[in-house]
Amino acid sequence: MRTDTGEIIHLENYQPTDFILERVDLTFELDPTETKVEARLIFHRRENVDVNAPLVLDGDELKMTGLLLDQETIEPAHYDAAESSLTIRNLPASAPFEITITTEINPEANTTLMGLYRTKNIYCTQCEAEGFRRITYFPDRPDVLAVYTVNIIAEKATAPLLLSNGNFLGGAGMGDGRHFAAWFDPHPKPSYLFALVAGDLGVVEDTFTTMSGRDIALKIYVEHGKEPRAAYAMDALKRSMKWDEDVFGREYDLDIFMIVAVSDFNMGAMENKGLNVFNDKYVLADSETATDADYANIEAIIAHEYFHNWTGNRITCRDWFQLCLKEGLTVYRDHEFSADMRSRAVKRIAEVRHLKSEQFPEDAGPLAHPVRPTKYREINNFYTTTVYEKGSEVTRMIATLLGADLFKKGMDLYFVRHDGQAVTIEDFVRCFEDASGRNLTQFALWYHQAGTPLVSVSVEYDTAKQSLTMALEQMVPATPGQPDKEPMHIPLRFGLLLPNGSEATATSVAGGEVTGDVLHLVERKQTVVFEGISSRPVVSFNRGFSTPINLHFEQSATDRAHIARHESDLFARWQALNDLATPNLVAATESARKGEPASVDPSQVETLLAAAADETLEPAFRAQVLALPSEADIAREIGSNNDPDAIHSGRQQVMTAIAKAGRDVFARLVENMAVSGSFSPDAASAGRRALRNSALSYLVYAENQAERAIKAFRDANNMTDLSQALTILAHRFPHDVSTTEALDEFKIRFEDNALVIDKWFGIQATIPGDGALQRVKALMDDPLFNASNPNRVRSLLGTYAFANPTGFNRPDGEGYRFLAKNILAMDPKNPQLAARILTSMRSWRSLESQRADHARNALRDIAGASKLSADVSDIVERMLK
Ligand code: ARG
Ligand code: ZN
Repeated sequence: MRTDTGEIIHLENYQPTDFILERVDLTFELDPTETKVEARLIFHRRENVDVNAPLVLDGDELKMTGLLLDQETIEPAHYDAAESSLTIRNLPASAPFEITITTEINPEANTTLMGLYRTKNIYCTQCEAEGFRRITYFPDRPDVLAVYTVNIIAEKATAPLLLSNGNFLGGAGMGDGRHFAAWFDPHPKPSYLFALVAGDLGVVEDTFTTMSGRDIALKIYVEHGKEPRAAYAMDALKRSMKWDEDVFGREYDLDIFMIVAVSDFNMGAMENKGLNVFNDKYVLADSETATDADYANIEAIIAHEYFHNWTGNRITCRDWFQLCLKEGLTVYRDHEFSADMRSRAVKRIAEVRHLKSEQFPEDAGPLAHPVRPTKYREINNFYTTTVYEKGSEVTRMIATLLGADLFKKGMDLYFVRHDGQAVTIEDFVRCFEDASGRNLTQFALWYHQAGTPLVSVSVEYDTAKQSLTMALEQMVPATPGQPDKEPMHIPLRFGLLLPNGSEATATSVAGGEVTGDVLHLVERKQTVVFEGISSRPVVSFNRGFSTPINLHFEQSATDRAHIARHESDLFARWQALNDLATPNLVAATESARKGEPASVDPSQVETLLAAAADETLEPAFRAQVLALPSEADIAREIGSNNDPDAIHSGRQQVMTAIAKAGRDVFARLVENMAVSGSFSPDAASAGRRALRNSALSYLVYAENQAERAIKAFRDANNMTDLSQALTILAHRFPHDVSTTEALDEFKIRFEDNALVIDKWFGIQATIPGDGALQRVKALMDDPLFNASNPNRVRSLLGTYAFANPTGFNRPDGEGYRFLAKNILAMDPKNPQLAARILTSMRSWRSLESQRADHARNALRDIAGASKLSADVSDIVERMLK
């Protein structure tokens, strides 16, 4: 483990390397505990660099067994091998030279899952961001691009499969029970995209013919016996390859594309050149074991990693501050892909829900940082929803600002201008400026200023003048290190809805730029006047969530209902319904806090039920309407002094009121939305299941009896329905004997399927109320719990801390102390995972004072522990600042 040095890296200190790396030749002699790595690196000194400047390479936990310069031993006086670097002096002034480094590493003992490690007897690597330096000393930074040849030697019986990046050169037996394989990747790449996989795996094969007619071999490697469960991933891969050609004009560039699914992985997946490595959760699916959400995630992540081949690999980041260059853009691309594969509006709603529930709290708390940060202590802690999801929203805004044609022109320019380079956000933005002729300096503040802007609007209609006046004001809140903010360029899409539901268009606009339905808010305060509006319109703001802001606009329930009925933008309709529900939920929380029953506005309930029953709307959309703002959403809305128990109880009461009022609607939906025939994961069928399960859950609320859920559990013929029924049972009737029976039955049936057992842990970890902690503790002692498998840890501890507001935020603080203890136990083994789960406490300051005090103390206990990893100490110190 890399312990914390407290060192902070600053963007402004960026310097290119003194030496240029021309070629990399790697030879691995694989062994579970003593793997030998020989790295032959050809360098030359960059022009104008001091002839005495030494070569400094990065390292982490390495044991070096040999060091040669042009095949001659280097005298000890000419180099220093330290814990995190290797410095070599007396190197040629300008001629190329070869450094040969031999290291010995222990994959079996590598619990960090960074560098070369073992998972279920498979050798596997994860090098992003700084894992390659755990394999050999190397200029381990993304702006060092080189061509790699890789030789892998291993025992043939246990590792018949030897894979690395690029194209296969050849291989053969070696006579001593070992064999070798050689791979060559012609595309220069940074070390974070290096990958090696070796072991015994099954394979699913297919081919894809590219737009220029080249045949690409596609291979997905999974554990033996799981091949049928990779069929959907293969289908998603082929659709991704086609889509990237059709929409972005991007063709694949090697002869082979491989995906390997492994069961121990810190993140979702990794885009290594030609050899993506995946958390098997995002590859394996069949109707019996995967939910509709699992299928959608697989489709999105397969696409995401594939799309990185151009946005990330062909064009990469100059330094890690530019992470959003590849991640924000690639998330935008995978969002667009899913929108084209499924329902665009429903996809957008899901994205915005996710953005608001994960990124908005991050941007409003102690971990807030710009999409393009300027300093970091531990780069692993910057793989955040801000870099990814807000980064994607910023890309989306460029498309909104410029329009589809100019956006495409800018992207094309980016691909041509920067292919083969390691570049910055400034380079990216300049492509759109050059393609459009538009100055994006103010817009670029979205990359540099953290915090969710608050836009306040009021509108006034003058009947005599037939004019509409909008007064807009923007405020970007202070965030760590950024007390004062400049006004941003905010592209706000809007609609003016007339009483008959049609849309008004102004004859003239004064006070601001409006293009199509986009209003450009660029000043701190701006008044925009629309002339020629025949009658008072209802204004629908932020259509499609065109800009990631908090909007403050007082609008009557009648106006919101008008939007919900008439907006042409389906996202805006959903937003209006959500906005109708939110004040009710906030009021119900206040009542619950005073110990009073909640009063629920019947007209709001009616509007909601009307939308749920509206057969002109697609079922998936109606399911989104029925999914009320979450407890975390309500907490965010309230903002401070939060009491999670009151939020929970208030929301339960609102749910019950809706359930009782809508009993008939829900009963009909449960009937009518049944999906007949054999299972299909397509979006339309998934939408019907979602609506039906939501209706079922309301019915159970109305009846307050377990029978229906038990029956649904018995009748289910797919994992979506089965896990939903089990969730309803467990959450509503945790002490019922039928719940215990269902949980036991589920466990026995799926004992051999780790991904399903993760669901079993997750469902129990989210059971609300004060029994949660005891339950989670007991589950940690379950033989199926495995503290070294990241998916399992996330499914129990992660789910408890992130997704069980009442169970985790106990008034006595035991939840926080329990988490702290587990973080400290995990940190020495897997610091990345520990740091990630610890971020679940990022909103602790918005809790009421008793809980906040306990949270602070638990965080201080972590901060005070000795030998923390850089990952955990960075997070804990920022959270306490
Ligand atoms: N680049 C990967 C992706 O597709 C994520 C890898 C993150 N790895 C890490 N160690 N932080 O998003
Ligand atoms: Zn990515």
